Order: sequence, then structure tokens, then C-alpha cells
Amino acid sequence: MDHSGTSRSVWMETAERPDYAPLDHNGETDVIVVGAGIAGLTTAYLLGRGGRSTIVLDAGPVASGESERTTAHLANAMDDRFTELERLHGLHGMQFAAESHGAAIDQIAAIVRDEQIECGFERLDGYLFAPPGGLRDALEDELAAAHRAGLTEAALVRRAPLRGFNTGPALRFPDQAQFHPLRYLAGLARAIVRDGGMIHAHSQVVEIEGGHRARVRTAAGYALFGKAVVIATNSPINDRVVLHTKQMPYRTYVIGARVPRGEVPRALYWDTADPYHYVRLADDGNGGEILVIGGEDHRTGQDDDPAARYSRLERWARERFPIEDVTYRWSGQVMEPVDGLGFIGRNPGGQDNVYVATGDSGQGMTHGTLAGIILTDLIAGRPNRWAELYDPARKSGARDPIEFVRDGANIARQYARWLTAGDVEDAAQIPAGCGAILRRGGGKIAAYRDEAGELHECSAVCPHLGGIVSWNDAEKSWDCPVHGSRFDALGKVVNGPAKSDLAPVRVPAKR
Ligand SMILES: Cc1cc2nc3c(=O)[nH]c(=O)nc-3n(C[C@H](O)[C@H](O)[C@H](O)COP(=O)(O)OP(=O)(O)OC[C@H]3O[C@@H](n4cnc5c(N)ncnc54)[C@H](O)[C@@H]3O)c2cc1C
Ligand code: FES
Repeated sequence: MDHSGTSRSVWMETAERPDYAPLDHNGETDVIVVGAGIAGLTTAYLLGRGGRSTIVLDAGPVASGESERTTAHLANAMDDRFTELERLHGLHGMQFAAESHGAAIDQIAAIVRDEQIECGFERLDGYLFAPPGGLRDALEDELAAAHRAGLTEAALVRRAPLRGFNTGPALRFPDQAQFHPLRYLAGLARAIVRDGGMIHAHSQVVEIEGGHRARVRTAAGYALFGKAVVIATNSPINDRVVLHTKQMPYRTYVIGARVPRGEVPRALYWDTADPYHYVRLADDGNGGEILVIGGEDHRTGQDDDPAARYSRLERWARERFPIEDVTYRWSGQVMEPVDGLGFIGRNPGGQDNVYVATGDSGQGMTHGTLAGIILTDLIAGRPNRWAELYDPARKSGARDPIEFVRDGANIARQYARWLTAGDVEDAAQIPAGCGAILRRGGGKIAAYRDEAGELHECSAVCPHLGGIVSWNDAEKSWDCPVHGSRFDALGKVVNGPAKSDLAPVRVPAKR
């Protein structure tokens, strides 16, 4: 099952994924890890290396969440800009952010070397440039902040090294990296099992209890007990409210396009447009090169024309790069924290021995690796110099206070959708392969007509906190605009924080 959506990334087409049997018994271990993306697998791997027993549970196959949809830039040139991080977290906070993300890249490099994982890990330069009309001053300010952060090798260059596209002045950040995320995660999973850990796929967790004997229960009714539980489900499924007020879900879009081999220098490229673009190369598995271009982010559940987003990405790319043909289109979800840094540590205000990793923004590959480093230390009772910076209980200043207020108003508007009309008046207006919201009596129905013409209906009310879902035509899913829960076309949950499906309703006869 394609767990997170219907589109397919270049990684899914160019890697074998090991599969693991569902949990079919009760059990006991040192640490239960919920979620087998980069955060959960790195945590389980490092715990196992330290001699702790672990059991990893995932609702889908291993790495079937955002980690198979990433573009896998590995950067300590921070996405949310050093100038912003210094304003929000102070000089030391910014320095720790740069240092910790650099350490995360080093950690990945060490695992690739030690475990001999063939995942195309390579060190590269990263180039940050302004869109047309962008200010050179902003790049100079960012460079000065990057130097204060400790990235003293960063430099302002005349342009990024692209032949047909003059980017104008750019910042060059040496020692960034990239890899094939699914090959890396398959290697991590194998190493976890070799070290005595267990992995169970297709095992959705529906209940979590902390305490000195923590417990999780799966939808199939099996219970695991442990000294600690790590929630690495990308959007935390254990926390109903607190963390979800500190981060916002965004959809982000990617195209993969064939380019003549060697025409685009291997590097990472990012612009400072809003929303920004991010570009890298990937191997196509047959000796060719795919240019992977991402961007066009928007709040989850708040756009009714994702196809236009792919078209804009393609236009942007064709104007700048020697594109032959576009062979991949996919989308995914990123959680944007209000203060630009992920939340990694003890679950705030919750029960003992429950740990969480979330809010990883566009840098979830390094944040997820950091989660492994920090959580392993916390569980072992060791000090970790970055733990305070990423503490989920920290007081978070908003990146943009006006935006934060707007965000509150935006959420209120989403709840007002309880009262609005449906997308269509009658189910007969829904074409095959599409979904739409119907108003029926006092309620709202999520109606999907499958390719064979059969209508399927469920409640449009998100079981997390009652948002009204929207149809996502790019992924054929129902997306909640409030905190980003997602459900497949038939209402089955694929992304938390919701832990249950959209409630079924009976389809009236003759539709
Ligand atoms: C298009 C795109 C481009 C990106 N580009 C970059 C990039 O260039 N660089 C970068 O650093 N980051 C990037 N990111 C972000 C990064 O990919 C993610 O932040 C990261 O993969 C998240 O990893 P994770 O382990 O936290 O979550 P996931 O990989 O989503 O793993 C969570 C797992 O939890 C499981 N799960 C959920 N609910 C349950 C449950 N109830 N029971 C059991 N299991 C459950 C899911 O099935 C899933 O496998 C990008 C993201 C997207 C979508
Ligand atoms: S995800 Fe919170 S209300 Fe839907």
C-alpha cells in the first residue's frame, strides 16, 4: 500500500524496501518506537548500538511516511535562515542549531561508512540565491549571521555554477550532502534487526500510556510494554493539542525531470523566494540523471488546484535548467514549527517516559537524525548539549507574530466550514476518481466516486478535533486543514494526529 499518498517519488522507483511482518503477540522491550521513518529508525539504531532492546512499530511499510517523499538535501545551512534563528533563539541558539545539524550530517556519514550502506551519500556545496529582484543585502546579512553561527567557510560568490541560468550573487555553503533516503533507511532497518531489535510493519498504534511501565496498544489489539516510548510519527499521535498549536502542516510539491548527464553541476540549490524552490540531482538507476525540483508549499487542505502547482514548478524549472522531460510528480507534508526548529525530547506536560520528535520543517532528514542522537542520550540519562534548544516544552517565540495571529484566524475560518455549503450540491456532479464535500442536513459528508463509478461516503469531520476535511486531488486523499491529519479516498487514516478513520456513513440508495 502506498501509505502517504498516490503519487510516487523517484526513490520509490529506484530502491527495494525490506518488508516486516505485523505485530501478532504481546511483548516487552526496553524502548518501543512508534514510526519507522528517519526519526524512529535512527533512534532505534542508536539505542540498539548502545545495548538497549527496541521494538519499532509502523502503521504502513517501513519508511512509508514523509521519508519516502523527501528530496533528502542534508544541510546545516538552515532553511529558516540564520538571521531569523538568531532573532528567535539568540546567538548561542543559532550556533547550536548549525552545530547540531552539522553533527547530524556527520552521524549519517558515519552510519553509511560503518554499515556500508550503498545510498549514494555524497558531500556537496549548497547555493542560496535570491529570486529576480531579490536584495543582495539580505544575502550579505545571512552570510554574516552564518559566520557568527560558526559556518566560517560560507562565502558570497558571483553566481551559482549553473551554465544556462545566471542566479546572480549566491551564498556558497561547503560540506552539505545528499543521499538516496530509502536505500539509507533500508540499511538502517537491517542493522537494527542485526543488533537484536525488532521491526513490525502494518501495525498501527492506537493507544499510548507512559509511566514506569509504559504501554502501547495496536489496532489489532496487541500490547507492548517498555521502559520508554518514542513517538516518531512525524505529527505526534499521542498529543491532542499542545504541540499542534506550535506547528503548522504544509503540503509541498516535487517534480523529477530528466536532464543530460553532466549538464547540471552536482550541488544543492535553494532560492529565497516565498514559497522557495529547492533543487538537486538524483541518479535514475540506469546511468541517467534526474533533476529533482521542489517547492510551491501551501497550508494543508487549503488549495483546490494542486495540478497548477506542478505546472508552475515545471515552468520555473524549464526556464532555468536543460529539462528533457518530466518523469516524476509527487507531493508530501512538512510540519512548520513556529520558531523554526523541531521539537525533540520529553513529551510536554504528558506522562513519564514518553518522548517525541516532530516539527521538523524542511530539514526533517537532519532533524530526524538529531532526534536519534538526542533521544538516545535522554533515555540513557546522559546530558545532551542541544536538548534544551529542541525541548518540546520550550516557550516558542513566533517567527512572524503577525503571521501567527493570522494563523489563529485561519484555524477559526476552518471551523466556520461547518456552516458553509458543500463543494457540489449533488453527488451526481462528482466525476469518477474524484471527491467532494456534500452538505446533508446539518452535517458534511466526504464523498468519493471511484474509477468504476461507485460512490463511497464518510463523515467529513476529522476525528482529531473536528476540522472539516478537504479533497486533495493530487494524492486522492482527504486532508484536514486544521492540524494536517490525512485520510485515503475511502476515509482510512494515513497521517496523524488523528488515530482513527473518518466515520462511515451509509450511502443513500440510487446515487
Ligand atoms: C516533498 C518533501 C521534500 C522534503 N525535502 C527535504 C529535504 O530536502 N531535506 C530534509 O532534511 N527534509 C526534507 N523534507 C522533510 C523530511 O522528509 C521529513 O521531515 C522526514 O522524512 C520526517 O521523518 P519522520 O521520521 O519524522 O516521519 P515519517 O517519515 O513520516 O515517518 C513517520 C512514520 O510513522 C508512521 N505512523 C504514523 N502514525 C502511526 C501510528 N498511529 N502507528 C504506527 N505508525 C504510525 C507512518 O506510517 C510513518 O512511516 C521533505 C519533506 C517532503 C514531504
Ligand atoms: S487534524 Fe486536528 S482537527 Fe483535524
